[in-house]
Amino acid sequence: MNNQLKCLNAYAKGPASLDWDDQPSPFRRFSGCEQVSLAPPGRSLDVSFAELDQPQNIPIQALTFENLALMLELAFGLSAWKQYGPDRWSLRCNPSSGNLHPTEAYILCGDEAVLPPGVYHYLSHDHVLQKRCLFSESPAAEILIGLSSVHWREAWKYGERSFRYCQHDTGHALGALAYAAACLGWRIELISEIADRDITVLLGLDQSDQFVQDEREYPDLLCRLHPQQEIATEFDLERWIKRCKQDTWYGKALALHGRHLYRWPVIDEVASLTAKPATPPERWQVGNKCLPKPLSTDKASTLIRQRRSAQQFNAKSQPFAMASFQRMMLAVQVSNKPPFQAWNWPPLVQLLVFVHRVEGLEPGLYVLPRGLDAKAELQPLMSQEFSWRSVGMPFEFYELLAGSVRQAAKTLSCHQSIASDCAFSLGMLAPFSEDLEHTPWMYKRLFWECGLIGQILYLEAEAAGYRATGIGCFFDDAVHGVLGLQDSRWQSLYHFTVGEPLEDSRLVSLPAYEHLHSQWIDST
Ligand SMILES: Cc1cc2nc3c(=O)[nH]c(=O)nc-3n(C[C@H](O)[C@H](O)[C@H](O)COP(=O)(O)O)c2cc1C
Repeated sequence: MNNQLKCLNAYAKGPASLDWDDQPSPFRRFSGCEQVSLAPPGRSLDVSFAELDQPQNIPIQALTFENLALMLELAFGLSAWKQYGPDRWSLRCNPSSGNLHPTEAYILCGDEAVLPPGVYHYLSHDHVLQKRCLFSESPAAEILIGLSSVHWREAWKYGERSFRYCQHDTGHALGALAYAAACLGWRIELISEIADRDITVLLGLDQSDQFVQDEREYPDLLCRLHPQQEIATEFDLERWIKRCKQDTWYGKALALHGRHLYRWPVIDEVASLTAKPATPPERWQVGNKCLPKPLSTDKASTLIRQRRSAQQFNAKSQPFAMASFQRMMLAVQVSNKPPFQAWNWPPLVQLLVFVHRVEGLEPGLYVLPRGLDAKAELQPLMSQEFSWRSVGMPFEFYELLAGSVRQAAKTLSCHQSIASDCAFSLGMLAPFSEDLEHTPWMYKRLFWECGLIGQILYLEAEAAGYRATGIGCFFDDAVHGVLGLQDSRWQSLYHFTVGEPLEDSRLVSLPAYEHLHSQWIDST
């Protein structure tokens, strides 16, 4: 019992106190490099969220400077400002643990018709590109997008937990990018074979004198943009590497202003141990999946911009509609639609569903397998008391335990009420097989997959007229205890909640780019 209680209060090491006035800036700015203003944000596209189910039918927009700007805005741009008393903070189209936003996005342009060839950092606050490197010639007439993480932004608040939160955020960012590109009829290809050391060169992260040592960026993912649905050409990494190594880099990253009172050496150790080497190309092929239509007929760009995390849920809401529930459970299955077109690997993450109020379903604990014979894999490892009763659904779905699981969900999610007040919450279970010993970078991949699933849940919740919230804080050992898992072969990596949100009327909402309006009015 004592051990159980201990693991319900045992948090990974983090700072003993926080000075909120010294929070690292969530915006990376480079001084001493040219700024390229992007077209004013806020443009909407006619494509509805439902149409994203069939990306091959979405009208293809020309790959222009204006449309590239729109994709960046819908993926990583600001979505609103919130104010409470004297405090003001921005939100973005991509969510982030603690709203700390460790993810940075870069455009590598080889298409001279769009931008002079070079490497550009996207600064979402000002909706500008900062020119980091100007290529002396174009490596290829195409555009790449690179993602990196400033671990320090998360470590400042979460200490040792921060590495995995950064990986979650990367998965969310990849999802946000894939959805944004799809709105324009474009497709994101993940260049999953690339090694981290090459992403480091491509994004200029090896220019160590241009970054504050404790605030450096770590490579995450590289993507290629296809202004159509087909992947027409081979990717030639060497040509890009050559330009980034030979051409000149501009700018210096301004300090993020954290005082670095605490240090978490284990984060650098994990980052170095999990660095990804070059791997053989993998392209996991999947067919189309037929999803029931979402409730919302809204434009995809509207839903993307309105996506928010619920702060609280209505614990007495009407049950979540079964049609929406079924759509969501199907939407997280790998299929040939965004965001999975940008995911090259077979699905590994399985979902536990804590049902509180879903039309036609008994409250209880369920399992939603994703691309795996979950019953054969998990049943022998889990509690023998679980019924594994197959529930009649247009997909595999098993009830493990009937009865209220509200208190359990709350306790397991670091006592957060959102896990018990929502209509249903989820746990994401991933295999920690021996592979992980031999291929430690897989650790990051598992968290990216969780983040990608989370991004689907966020947007699907909006499309169902509800709201979602990611839960990065949970007691993993206690989750494993509840499931009866005796060893570490399966681990809980992320939790999620979906329900009817309760708005906090004390918060004032302001438009995303109001602070820049006068600039755009002056320039027209
Ligand atoms: C990886 C991840 C973990 C999160 N964990 C929690 C959590 O434990 N509790 C919570 O209330 N919100 C959590 N959130 C929600 C964030 O606080 C939220 O995304 C952030 O404040 C930005 O707000 P927005 O999502 O409305 O843009 C999490 C979000 C992400 C992406």
